[in-house]
Amino acid sequence: MRILIVGSGGREHALAWKLAQSRSCEAILAAPGNAGTAELGRNLPVHDSDLDALCDAAESNRIDLVVVGPEAPLAAGLVDALSERGILAFGPSQSAAQIESSKWFAKSIMQSAGVPHARGELFETPQAAHKWLEILGPDDLPVLKADGLAAGKGVIVPDHIDDAHDAVDQMFAGAFGSAGERVVIEDRLSGMEASAMAVVSGTDILPLPLSCDYKRIMDRDQGPNTGGMGVYAPPGFMSGFVGDADDVFATIHQPVADQMTAEGCEFRGLLYAGLMIDDGALNVLEFNARFGDPETQAVLPLLDGDLLPVLEASARGHALPRDAISHSGRASVSVAIVSGGYPGPYETGRPIHGLNAVDEAVDIFHAGTAIDDDGRTVTAGGRVLAVTAVADTLAEARGIAYDNVRKITFDGAFHRTDIALREVPP
Ligand code: AMP
Ligand code: GLY
Repeated sequence: MRILIVGSGGREHALAWKLAQSRSCEAILAAPGNAGTAELGRNLPVHDSDLDALCDAAESNRIDLVVVGPEAPLAAGLVDALSERGILAFGPSQSAAQIESSKWFAKSIMQSAGVPHARGELFETPQAAHKWLEILGPDDLPVLKADGLAAGKGVIVPDHIDDAHDAVDQMFAGAFGSAGERVVIEDRLSGMEASAMAVVSGTDILPLPLSCDYKRIMDRDQGPNTGGMGVYAPPGFMSGFVGDADDVFATIHQPVADQMTAEGCEFRGLLYAGLMIDDGALNVLEFNARFGDPETQAVLPLLDGDLLPVLEASARGHALPRDAISHSGRASVSVAIVSGGYPGPYETGRPIHGLNAVDEAVDIFHAGTAIDDDGRTVTAGGRVLAVTAVADTLAEARGIAYDNVRKITFDGAFHRTDIALREVPP
C-alpha cells in the first residue's frame, strides 16, 4: 500500500516509522512531514490545513491509505472530503471527531453511555456562567473549558474563584476565538493522569498500552503547559488503582463506541481518553479523536506485529484483526528535547549534532526538524526530537533514554530530567 501521513510532529514520524515496517507498505509519503519522515519516504509541501490540496496530493500520488495525525484537519472534515473522492482514510468523520472538537458533545455522549466523568454545565453567555460561579461554595473550584478546539490551550484550572470569573470574561471576549463562544464549567477532579488509546472500528475496539505524559515544561511539573515534554508506558500506578488495564477500555471506550454508533455517528479511528485516577475511581477528563502526541512515540515501540492492517480495517469499518498486533509487555520512556525558550518564543535553524552517535536500540522521533540548504538537520520548531528507549523495566528504559539524550546537542537544547522518575525506586 502507498500511505500518506498527514502532519509534521513526533507522532507522525512514529506512525511513519511503524507503518514503514509493514509487509504491505510500498511507500510512505508525509504532508508536510519533517526531517524524520523524509528519511522514511518523501515529504510533500502541503500544509495539513489545506484540505483540497491534501485530497489532490492523495489522488495524484495514488495513495491507498491516508493516516491523519492532528485534530484540526479531522474536525475540518478531511476524512469526509477524502472519502467523497473515493480515497480511504484512517480517522473519524467530521461528525464523529466532535468527541474531541466539542467538549459538550463528549460530555453528552459520556452521560448517555454511563461513562464516569466530571459533571459539568454548558454556558452560552457570560452572565449565565458568572451566575453559576457565584453559587459555588468557597472551596468548590471549577475547571473552565472552551467548548471548541483551542490547540490544547482551552482549559483553565483556576486557583481562586476570581480567576474563574476572569477566565469566563476572557473566553467570551474571544481569547480562544470561536472555540470559546460556548464554555463548559465542570467539577475539578484530582489524582493521577493517564492516557488510554484504542483503535476503534464502529463497536469493535483494540486497546493499545496505557501511557503517561508530562505536560509542564520543568521538572516536578513546574512552569507553563507544553505540547508534551516526555512520556512513559505503561504506568505502574494504573494496575494498583483500577485493576486490569482491560477494565479501562471496557468502562470507557466500549460504551462510548457503542453509544456513538447508536446515535448514528459511528467512530472509526483512534479514540484517546485522558483519565484521572483517584483512590481507585476512574474519570474521563477529555477525549481526543486521534493518536496522542507524545504518547504515540512511547506506545508504538511497545507493539509487536503489523499495525497497517489494523488501521486499514478501521478505515473500512471492518472488524479489527486482533492477532495482527500484540503488546510486547516491555516498558518505554520517551524524552522530548526542545528549543530554548519553548513554549515561549525560540530560535530555529540550529544544527543538531549527535544524531548518529545514539545507541542502535534507541528510536529518535523527529518533531520540529528540517534539512537546511547545506543538507544539515536543523531545528525547526519548539519540540525538536523525542528519544525513545524500550527495555524490560521502566528503570532500564529510563536509563537508556537519558544516556542517549545526553549525546544529542544543539544550541539552547533543553529537556526535563524527571520523566518516569516517579515509577523508579530511588
Ligand atoms: P484537557 O485538555 O481536557 O485534558 O485538559 C488539560 C488538562 O487540564 C488536563 O490534563 C488536566 O490536567 C486538567 N483538567 C482538565 N479537566 C479537569 C478537571 N475536571 N479537573 C481537574 N483538572 C482538569
Ligand atoms: N498528549 C496529549 C494530546 O495528545 O492531546
